[in-house]
Amino acid sequence: MKNSYSISEIIKNIIALVFTKIFFKKARLIRLPIYIRGKTHLSYGNGFTTGYNCRLEMFDITQGNYKKLIIGNNCKIGDYVHIAAGEKVIIGNNCLMASKIYISDISHGCYKEGLENDSPDIPPDRRLLATDPVIIGNNVWIGENVSILSGITIGDGCIVGANSVVTKNVPKHTIVAGVPAKVIKVWNKESELWIKS
Ligand SMILES: CC(C)(COP(=O)(O)OP(=O)(O)OC[C@H]1O[C@@H](n2cnc3c(N)ncnc32)[C@H](O)[C@@H]1OP(=O)(O)O)[C@@H](O)C(=O)NCCC(=O)NCCS
Repeated sequence: MKNSYSISEIIKNIIALVFTKIFFKKARLIRLPIYIRGKTHLSYGNGFTTGYNCRLEMFDITQGNYKKLIIGNNCKIGDYVHIAAGEKVIIGNNCLMASKIYISDISHGCYKEGLENDSPDIPPDRRLLATDPVIIGNNVWIGENVSILSGITIGDGCIVGANSVVTKNVPKHTIVAGVPAKVIKVWNKESELWIKS
């Protein structure tokens, strides 16, 4: 695919490339501005590429000097992607993310049945932060404006349709879409076709 960048885009990319080679040696291109909190807890693979205005946050919710956000090789994320990791967010190899995506393993409080719940009388920002790891497999394509909530596992080769909110695990080789995201197609190995479900 041929890219026709404008002059200003070329200048911005050159500045970003210099920044990338100094501060993110393994990455392909980290576009600016980027907001990163807790970089020591970040691991990314070769070829990592980000769009404009991404926000990667690694918080000390679970103690320990380990990588909380792990991004595999050749991952490309679009503009305004916000990923927050308090315990563990793993993204596999060759994942493609569009723009305005939210992925996090953190919740302001606990609202699950069968567990101690947070009172509505406590301001949300003072509720105890709860974490539940997020795992995204290899070769996953995540469409525009998607939210992936805490505790979710998405299998290899999945596609998440634009504007989806993923609230349940997605088995490998599945296309999900909607709010909440539901299975719309599954890869059939024999016919080599995505079959409507
Ligand atoms: C998920 C996606 C890949 C599916 O494409 P597709 O297989 O060609 O989908 P179809 O048009 O065959 O749709 C199948 C069904 O899913 C529904 N559907 C498809 N995408 C949907 C979405 N994002 N949200 C809700 N429903 C969706 C269709 O309405 C259709 O429903 P029906 O069977 O009741 O008629 C595509 O719709 C999509 O969302 N792509 C992401 C685009 C994007 O964000 N690009 C960013 C560039 S990186």
